[in-house]
Amino acid sequence: MKTHKLFPKVDALLHGGDYNPEQWLDRPDILEEDVWLMKEAGVNTVTLGVFSWSVYEPREGEYHFEWLHKILDTLYENGIYTVMATPSGARPAWLDETYPEALRMNLKRVRNLHGVRHNHCITSPKYRQLVHDMDVRLAKEVGSHPGIILWHISNEFGGECACPLCEKKFQDWLRNRYDNDIDKLNHAWWTTFWSHRYNDFSQINAPAAHGEQSIHGLNLDWKRFTTDNTREFMEAEMAVFRELTPDIPITTNFMHMYSALDYNKLSKPLDVISWDSYPRYGNPEESLYDTSMENALDHVMMRSFKHDRPFMMMESVPSLVNWHEYNKAKRPGVHKVTALQAIACGSDTVQYFQWRKSRGSFEQFHGAVLDHLGRSDTRVFRDVAEVGRLLKALKPVQGSIVESKAAILFDWDNRWALEDCAAFSKLTKQYTKTCLDMFKLFQKNGVDVDVIAPTEDFSGYRLLAIPMMYLMKPGVADRLKAFVSAGGQVVMTYISGYVDESTLCYLGGFPGDGLTELFGLYVEETDTLYPQDVNGVRFTGLPGVSEDTVFAARDYCDVIKVQGADTAAVYTEDFYAGEPAVTVNGYGQGKAWYVGARVEQAAMEQVLLAAMREADIPVKDLPEGVEYHRRSGDDAVFDFYLNYTTEPVTVETEPGVDLISGRSVSGQVKLEGLGVMVCQVQP
Ligand code: GLA
Ligand code: ZN
Repeated sequence: MKTHKLFPKVDALLHGGDYNPEQWLDRPDILEEDVWLMKEAGVNTVTLGVFSWSVYEPREGEYHFEWLHKILDTLYENGIYTVMATPSGARPAWLDETYPEALRMNLKRVRNLHGVRHNHCITSPKYRQLVHDMDVRLAKEVGSHPGIILWHISNEFGGECACPLCEKKFQDWLRNRYDNDIDKLNHAWWTTFWSHRYNDFSQINAPAAHGEQSIHGLNLDWKRFTTDNTREFMEAEMAVFRELTPDIPITTNFMHMYSALDYNKLSKPLDVISWDSYPRYGNPEESLYDTSMENALDHVMMRSFKHDRPFMMMESVPSLVNWHEYNKAKRPGVHKVTALQAIACGSDTVQYFQWRKSRGSFEQFHGAVLDHLGRSDTRVFRDVAEVGRLLKALKPVQGSIVESKAAILFDWDNRWALEDCAAFSKLTKQYTKTCLDMFKLFQKNGVDVDVIAPTEDFSGYRLLAIPMMYLMKPGVADRLKAFVSAGGQVVMTYISGYVDESTLCYLGGFPGDGLTELFGLYVEETDTLYPQDVNGVRFTGLPGVSEDTVFAARDYCDVIKVQGADTAAVYTEDFYAGEPAVTVNGYGQGKAWYVGARVEQAAMEQVLLAAMREADIPVKDLPEGVEYHRRSGDDAVFDFYLNYTTEPVTVETEPGVDLISGRSVSGQVKLEGLGVMVCQVQP
């Protein structure tokens, strides 16, 4: 069974979003209007209670859930399901007044005042207790309601706390990690340097601008601790629902490429992955296609956390946001193609923040389905209603999944270590952009690719792309060797395999941990270039690529010594002119490709295409500005074509039925500007 319906009782793709009726309890007319307008917009789900604590419990021990029951009932009677959130993302003022330990302390060790949200100490036993009690109350109040399909834990977990409670917990976390042996820690952090040796775990502080910030191992462990502590907080919330409502699945909503928490670790205990998508549509620096590629990378990363099931786009906006530097309205047609992009990438939902614009406070001008104008005959409302209709037409897609034959390895530990290391250039490391560039090349060639952690299972993939894996975790090198040995293709870039999980350099040649053997080379030097510097790379015998073409190489150039690898391209300039820049090494049944320089996209594309040929991964000829994905279900496959240009294009399709137009299609099909085709391919 491939098909995996997230919510067995909902026979549809979900359409809806955050609904905050507690802001309108004194306006029954508006609450009544909401329900019939939701139906008009094709909304079949809402998310309730994300920020409802001060209405549930306006004073400690005084509870009000009557309104919630009423809303849940009314929605359910009208065919609208509910994602029920826990309110731990923001706290009432009385709570912080009574229990100041719940307030977060920043890295300068200044205690925050009450305000905004996500401002809680992650460790505070008192806050955890209050959240627990509230969650129990909520589960008992509404957990048996037939309209509730999912628990939504807190909201966009984020940030860190350096209060004494957290610092003490960090020390205990370190004791555990280093077997209570301070010398193990001293070795891992290389503290003899600058005379930084510790005698006891109690001497260790969280990193701070006015304190210790120069020990990379400490900085990295602090980030790991913050993720583990956040996960523990989240799991403590989850435990309540696992016990009281074991049949209701659980999610929490993630953010765009969020840097402060390791989402791979956070994703593990969840049943469903969901995230909030707010790209800068219409920005002047890039095309709609490019902005959408950034969004696609996020979608795909979320999908890849649990690639055996659909994910959820929990929030997005039908018009504009209020927190970008410039808050531009989505142009006509853009909402449709960007909403359906989520479905194309493997989401079974299109949800918004929020249903109705707030009247006051911070998000009063954030786009919503319903404006302050209060009418449904607006452009935005019509766009939303159109998406509602399209999602109905796309119902056969529900539960189908994307099966990628290629994966990009992405790792938070690596991201943190690479950003923190004092080397290369502060400005051009650009790890996430490098991953995005790699991702775009797969998309350009119509190849679905997952984005996975290096600790995940590689079986099922035929090609692994590894951009800038500076920190190589234990065991990964051996697993890569086994993967290639058994016939896999690996494409790895410069600045990979420098340090181990403690940020200690691998000795004896980069890429370390035995990868010199896999790639048949070692890197003798890595040259960091100034932005004005350009080297050249010329392929020497890659099928289909002229030996006369010189591709630009910028930012980073490895000086490589081959030990068995074949040279696929050489540098054209500088003291390493004529030396290998790209190599390929046969290893067992497969091949290990090494790209030693930050070459321009056209050159990287040639290497990936060569590796895809070897991996027997078919590519698709797509017009510029078109995104393609395939979702597979038990009985059918669905090919999505999204045209981000405003001009008509022609795409090539297998015979099938376009679920959007209802027409049979085959061969060359015209797609309107900003048009979408979802071809259910004939079995
Ligand atoms: C986030 C939050 C929402 C809202 C939106 C606005 O995703 O989860 O509560 O603030 O941003 O874009
Ligand atoms: Zn704290």
